[in-house]
Amino acid sequence: MTKLNLLSQHEQTTMSNPRNFSALQLQTERLQLRPLVESDATALLEIFSDPRVMRYWSTGTWQSISEAEALIARDQAGMASDEYLRLGLVRQQDSQLLGHCCLFNFNDQCRRAEIGYGMAYSAWGHGYMHEALTRVVEYAFTELALNRIEADIDPRNERSAHSLERLGFQREGFLRERWIVDGEVSDSALYGLLKAEWRVEG
Ligand SMILES: CC(C)(COP(=O)(O)OP(=O)(O)OC[C@H]1O[C@@H](n2cnc3c(N)ncnc32)[C@H](O)[C@@H]1OP(=O)(O)O)[C@@H](O)C(=O)NCCC(=O)NCCS
Repeated sequence: MTKLNLLSQHEQTTMSNPRNFSALQLQTERLQLRPLVESDATALLEIFSDPRVMRYWSTGTWQSISEAEALIARDQAGMASDEYLRLGLVRQQDSQLLGHCCLFNFNDQCRRAEIGYGMAYSAWGHGYMHEALTRVVEYAFTELALNRIEADIDPRNERSAHSLERLGFQREGFLRERWIVDGEVSDSALYGLLKAEWRVEG
């Protein structure tokens, strides 16, 4: 029996279907999660040009609107081919784009992917990201049938570590000098969440 045959019927069906990321819309109590569109460029630039938000990011801060436009165009292509998923976090109350979260580096054979996220500084401390990530993790484990979600963060990024641990992620590893961003060398803390643990947590 192959490993695939050991999966449930639901898991097999989910994996063989196109993911159709371009059309994905998720809802939480206070947020709508949806793909980024051209009109998000200004709000996106505000997020990615803020040194407080970008302190531990894997790239330097953005300087111009063209970088936002390029990311949105990249997303449209990447999500049309289901290569990765990025959703904007839109506050239902005022339609403000607060941040973004993504699933990327999919490995279909091992049913795993990596998670990333960032949010405007003004939106920190209200539980928006926890609300969004809870829904995205649920989507990943149920509809995408993933078995494992990984995260690679700067060990100094306490807020991000807190976000992951609150979802049940465990710190599993430490890689030295894995990143060089704008000349600054930094380490990686690797986190993982298994579907089995998530069921226990959830
Ligand atoms: C990582 C990041 C999204 C976390 O932001 P955050 O505001 O701490 O996360 P949340 O939106 O989930 O809010 C959690 C906080 O809101 C509080 N909170 C208030 N109301 C809440 C509610 N209704 N529900 C849950 N939490 C609530 C929590 O107590 C918590 O605060 P605490 O950490 O002081 O205890 C943010 O720091 C960020 O964008 N950083 C820059 C990008 C980055 O580094 N990303 C990680 C690399 S992948």
